[in-house]
Amino acid sequence: MTKALVTGISGFVGSHMAEFLLERDIEVVGTIRMRSRMDHIKNLKDVQLVECELRDPFSVEKLIQEAKPDLIFHLAAQSFVPTSWNSPMDTIYNNIAGQVNIMEAVRHINLDCKIQVACSSEQYGHVEPDEVPIKETNPLRPLSPYAVSKVAQDYLGYQYYKSYGLHIIPTRTFNHTGPRRGENFVTSNFAKQIAEIEKGKKPPILYVGNLQAKRDFTDVRDVVRAYHLALEKGEPGTTYNIASGTCYTIQEMLNLLLSFSSIQIEIQEDPARLRPSDVEILLGDYTKFHERTGWKPEIPFDQTMKDLLDYWRARV
Ligand code: GDD
Repeated sequence: MTKALVTGISGFVGSHMAEFLLERDIEVVGTIRMRSRMDHIKNLKDVQLVECELRDPFSVEKLIQEAKPDLIFHLAAQSFVPTSWNSPMDTIYNNIAGQVNIMEAVRHINLDCKIQVACSSEQYGHVEPDEVPIKETNPLRPLSPYAVSKVAQDYLGYQYYKSYGLHIIPTRTFNHTGPRRGENFVTSNFAKQIAEIEKGKKPPILYVGNLQAKRDFTDVRDVVRAYHLALEKGEPGTTYNIASGTCYTIQEMLNLLLSFSSIQIEIQEDPARLRPSDVEILLGDYTKFHERTGWKPEIPFDQTMKDLLDYWRARV
């Protein structure tokens, strides 16, 4: 039986990844931390949870030694861009150290396994108008400490492949969303505000940041399918874009959410939601991944957003 290790299993992507693997009879071990919220995985049966601080090399080596996974999905990270401006070193250290500890452990114990690393379209950062849709060959011009940490994770994957032959595949995933998306992220934040307004829990004012930014959204359920395929069919040491190939302004995404609700809502800009520098446009070209694996996104964006709004309607 194939065994997979999912770091950050209690998180948004981690919980969907675990469900996907269990449905395919893959044994799942997942890492959690002492303060992890368990809501997303409390109904998952047959998952082995291990408390592990990925910054600590000894705990990580013990984890890998005992679990001996065939596949590693390295999803754990500080993934919220604004937090990385408030505590840049914490984001950079957390995201880089966790990955180095995993790769070092795999190398020390000489484990034959495949490792997917969750990298990000944020790595592209500033993109010139004639560079979209963005290919993997585009220059990286990161605009946040988070983006820099993901550039490092991506290049560390390449370096460990070249230096030690580790089977590593960094995936540069564009924005992804769906049920369980953390409430700080824009799609979930707006959906939650709408659900709260509908229930009368909040006055009918929806607070927003920069509505002009353009993002390429993929459903998280398509994304975890891509991560599995990346390890099944991807070429080691190679980075792939995971994207939908379509982009929307944040305003358009908001309009779509509002179209699912009959309530009148006033939109107000909250200056605290604006960033020191925002990535203007992320629109991905996923041809390289499609040609290698056959993957393409299947869940339409309005279905994803409906599911997300219904998720919040059931919870607020
Ligand atoms: N969070 C948030 N809240 N963002 C807002 C808001 C708001 O109220 N209003 C407008 N935005 C804009 C942000 O300025 C940004 O341009 C866009 O909405 C998306 O913001 P986020 O949802 O916070 O995501 P992100 O694009 O910064 O990063 C996400 O995608 C990356 C891949 O491109 C995260 O999931 C990262 O972890 C991921 O790597």
